[in-house]
Amino acid sequence: MAKNIVLVGFMGTGKSATGQLIAEELNRSFIDMDTLIEERAGKKISAIFADEGEPHFRQLEHNLAVELSRESDLVIACGGGIVLNPANIAAFSQTGLVFCLHADPDEILQRVARQSHRPLLEGDNDKAQAIRDLLAKRQSLYQAIPLSIDTNGHKPIDTAREVLKVYHASAP
Ligand code: S3P
Repeated sequence: MAKNIVLVGFMGTGKSATGQLIAEELNRSFIDMDTLIEERAGKKISAIFADEGEPHFRQLEHNLAVELSRESDLVIACGGGIVLNPANIAAFSQTGLVFCLHADPDEILQRVARQSHRPLLEGDNDKAQAIRDLLAKRQSLYQAIPLSIDTNGHKPIDTAREVLKVYHASAP
């Protein structure tokens, strides 16, 4: 039984792409929390936000974090807001190594510019400002995660290698 590898970080930091590559490399199951929440709810995250509201989504997210933290050998990509509830990080930390992926606002904007599935960036015409505001509000929560990976200018494969290096060094 090996510890879960849990990727957190702001939207557009590459959690899903990086997590998939890590799971392939280690031959483990990959869980994208948002995808699993969508499959179980039978609707997109944006529809959950619109129909039931953000607090309901946060509850689903928390329930899933607790559920997954009881398992092992997983690679898990979280939604960007997972850090908003400290109980999520506490649960994941009990059975896994939690990595925070970081990227600067400009790079995040480039990565998410042509996507439209993130309700927290959609209401605002000025996506760049929305990213800066939300990132500023959450910065201390992301920075509180001890294992931190800079993804600026890096492709998911480079970030995956970086995570694996730390993982192998701390959980041989
Ligand atoms: C959110 C990030 C999204 C998704 C939801 C809320 C957030 O996931 O969970 O739209 O609060 O930062 P990604 O980080 O995968 O975009």
